[in-house]
Amino acid sequence: MAYRDVYGAWQSDPDGWWMEQADAIDWVRKPSKALFDDHPPMYEWFSDGLVNTCYNAVDRHVEAGRGQQAAIIYDSPVTDNKARITYAELQQKVARLAGALASRGVTKGDRIIVYMPMVPEALVAMLACTRIGAIHSVVFGGFASHELATRIDDARPKAVIAGSCGIEPARTVAYKPLLDAAIDEAHHKPEFCIIFQREQLTADLVPGRDVDWHEAQDKAPPADCVAVEGNHPVYVLYTSGTTGQPKGVVRATGGHLVALYWTMKNVYDVDPGDVFWAASDVGWVVGHSYICYAPLLHGNTTVVFEGKPVGTPDPGTFWRVIEEHNVRSFFTAPTAFRAIKREDPEGEYIRKHDLSCLRALYLAGERADPDTVNWAAEKLGVPVIDHWWQTETGWPVVTNPMGIEKLPVKIGSPTVPLPGYDLRILDHDGNELEPGHLGSIVIKLPLPPGTLPTLWNAEDRFRKSYLDHFPGYYETGDAGYIDEDGYLWIMARTDDVINVAGHRLSTGAMEEVLADHPDVAECAVIGVADELKGQLPMGFICLTKGVDRSHDEIVTECAAMVRDRIGPVAAYRMTLVVDRLPKTRSGKILRRTMISIADGVEFKLPATIDDPAIIDEIADRLKTLGYPRA
Ligand code: COA
Ligand code: AMP
Repeated sequence: MAYRDVYGAWQSDPDGWWMEQADAIDWVRKPSKALFDDHPPMYEWFSDGLVNTCYNAVDRHVEAGRGQQAAIIYDSPVTDNKARITYAELQQKVARLAGALASRGVTKGDRIIVYMPMVPEALVAMLACTRIGAIHSVVFGGFASHELATRIDDARPKAVIAGSCGIEPARTVAYKPLLDAAIDEAHHKPEFCIIFQREQLTADLVPGRDVDWHEAQDKAPPADCVAVEGNHPVYVLYTSGTTGQPKGVVRATGGHLVALYWTMKNVYDVDPGDVFWAASDVGWVVGHSYICYAPLLHGNTTVVFEGKPVGTPDPGTFWRVIEEHNVRSFFTAPTAFRAIKREDPEGEYIRKHDLSCLRALYLAGERADPDTVNWAAEKLGVPVIDHWWQTETGWPVVTNPMGIEKLPVKIGSPTVPLPGYDLRILDHDGNELEPGHLGSIVIKLPLPPGTLPTLWNAEDRFRKSYLDHFPGYYETGDAGYIDEDGYLWIMARTDDVINVAGHRLSTGAMEEVLADHPDVAECAVIGVADELKGQLPMGFICLTKGVDRSHDEIVTECAAMVRDRIGPVAAYRMTLVVDRLPKTRSGKILRRTMISIADGVEFKLPATIDDPAIIDEIADRLKTLGYPRA
């Protein structure tokens, strides 16, 4: 079948098409229909079905005779460990941890925060929650304790499951003190914590609150799968918005199962039994969808990789893993390839390995620049597939549908929308634009199964952030255009979200931190282009009148504050002290203009600018940091 036929089949009968895809899932009670549209613009999918995520990801494969197949391959160059966990073993591990949770009173609907490094137990923890209908919220290890505290207060978890430490190439990150500090800071206190002790750094347990992972599961009977409704949340994943308060993206069970399963063959072109590897982290949406759930739902083997593309130990690590574990489809962020290319421009490490098992490379998370795509395609000799999606959608919106048909690649475009997504480009007033015209990328409602139905405890914010600006559409926050062939081209974000090394971050959150510095009167943070990480944050601060301390000292303190409050992953290092910020006459800071100056791209001075002289002052200050880059 051709892509056009599949997309057309969905268009002509969306409900029937999705019900057909739902047959791939084992339901306890099959839903009566796909879309539940009684309360537009709020939509649900498969609401009256009954189903269990863990059963579909684990147990059913054991029952179907896949028990001895590897479900997870763990490869950790940073600890020099490798392991292979079969579906049968995974079932045991998950049922036992679920039993430990259930015996401590965790039931359907309770939230559990998961704060784990890249070890198989992270997946075990996620699956154990879904086994008993608890809602997990995984927090990325590179966030500081304040970010963890914010999520604890929003999700109000009954318990936290955490590792004792994470391993970064240059240091061991003690998770437990970060967790303790977060619980101290949070107003909501979890009832208990289950701690997975790693031999690299064990943690002190708080008596009466913390319990050792193994001890907890040894004392409880394994738990069975609990059937939940199709619209029951399977997880909440926090992502950056425009303010310091992250958005809790809700994922509903039924649509999640159906949509993710469908993508494994149609997008990633793998069959059950094939090894699939997404080199990301369970703390991000890519890790949720394509390290944990989708490959397991589909009966694939997933690789849990604990390391970096370079330096653990060399830029050949990815190729070693692909060869050693027979990886068919590989998914990572372009930034990882830029890091490898910088260290191994000739691809010498690639040539050392037999990569004949690899069929395609998939890139997402940030813009795939043509240089990187061309380099990867030439050195690896496989198709390089850029695809576009977001935490909110949970699965690709636009891609080259490799399992349906390989469409001609246009480098720089992630290709075409998948069934379920009716993509449009609108101007500021909501008028639809012709092909080739740049505007806001929106998706006509309803969004398909597997995408966010709402934000956790924040329906108003959900409507305000995504639905209100363009009634009848979901606003993606990205700008771009669709060309004459129906290919999408992504140009920029329309909000203050930036993308640093494939990690989504909020400049608004960083501004909130800088504004708390006692000597800072006013500030702005922008994302500037960076060759390796795509973007880097840069702060501009105006000092309070009368402050006569050394600017260097204040700048150092600003960087430390952002690292301390948001975390090392913010990669915040650059701060410029300026006398004034450029603004419109109504007082709006001209961040876009500042970005253009820093990136050295042409721009039109906004007609509403208050004092154009400030533009030159900003440009002079940027030169002191070497911006714009040559
Ligand atoms: N726990 C604790 N700290 C972490 C962390 C984690 N899980 N992940 C990153 N950090 C720290 C890093 O150690 C680094 O600390 P430092 O400032 O002390 O050096 C900081 O956060 C910034 O990390 P990062 O921006 O990732 O830079 P890096 O130099 O460690 O690695 C890349 C650069 C490009 C190799 C790396 O970012 C990468 O592989 N990115 C892939 C992106 C990805 O998986 N995206 C998900 C969507 S597909
Ligand atoms: P996240 O929610 O972390 O996955 O980030 C989603 C955002 O990353 C999108 O809204 C885009 O701005 C950006 N992004 C993701 N994939 C791509 C891509 N293939 N091309 C360009 N930008 C992308």
